[in-house]
Amino acid sequence: PHSQAHVARAMATTSDSALEELGRFAVRYVKPGQTIGLGTGKAASAFIRAIGESGIKVRGVPTSVASGQLGRESGIEIVTLAQVKKLDADFDGADEVDPRLNLLKGFGGALVREKIVARASKRFIVLVGAEKLYPHLGARKRLPIEVVPFGREVVTREVAKLGLKASARMNQDGSEFITDNGNPILDCAVREIPNPARLERELLAIPGVIGTGLFVAMASLVIVASADGKPPRILKPKT
Ligand code: A5P
Repeated sequence: PHSQAHVARAMATTSDSALEELGRFAVRYVKPGQTIGLGTGKAASAFIRAIGESGIKVRGVPTSVASGQLGRESGIEIVTLAQVKKLDADFDGADEVDPRLNLLKGFGGALVREKIVARASKRFIVLVGAEKLYPHLGARKRLPIEVVPFGREVVTREVAKLGLKASARMNQDGSEFITDNGNPILDCAVREIPNPARLERELLAIPGVIGTGLFVAMASLVIVASADGKPPRILKPKT
C-alpha cells in the first residue's frame, strides 16, 4: 500500500477538509464514558473538534497545553494522568509512518507527552494523510529528541558519535523553542533509519535525553485520510 504514498506526495498535502473528514471518521472508535488521549497537531485537532461536535461524553487526557485548550473549548472534560488509570484509546497524528506502522513524531514538539499518553492507552490510533506514509522512517530527514537543558551540549556531542548532527530547534523570532515540559528540542539530521528500535535504544542511553520521536511498535491502527470523499484506509500492524 505504501507505493501509493509516492503518488500522494507528488500531490498536495492532505486538505483541511479531508482531515476534518478523518477526524469525524475516527469518532466511531469512541464510546460514551471512555477516557481518551487527545493528540497534538492538525489531524488530532480535527478529531478533538469532531468529538466535541458529536456530543459524546468522554474524558480527555491532552498531550499538550494546546490540545488541552482545544479540548476544553470543544466541551471535553479534561483530566490528568494522575486522575485516571488506563486510557481506553489515544488519538494522535504522526509525521512519518513506515510499512510496519512504526512512527516518527515530534515535528510539533509534543513527542514526550504524546508517547507517555500513548503508552498509558489500551489502543493507540494514529490519524494521518497519505503523504505521511514512507517506505522507511527518516524520509523527512529530521528526528526530534527532547533533552534536559543542562545536558544540551553533551547530548549534541554524544549524538554526533552516532553520526547524527543535532541542532537546537528555534522559534521564528530566533529564540530557542521550549516544550510544554520546559525543555529544548534537538532536531537530528537523519537519513533513512534502517533499524528504528536500535536507534531508539542508542539515543535513550545518552544521559540527558528525555525522549525521541521514534514510536516503535506502538500503533494499534493507522487511519489514512482519503481524498475525493472515499472512506479512509485502515492499516493494522502485521502480527
Ligand atoms: C507533535 O509533536 C507531532 O508528533 C504531531 O503529532 C505530528 O506533527 C502530526 O501533526 P499534523 O497532524 O499536524 O501533521
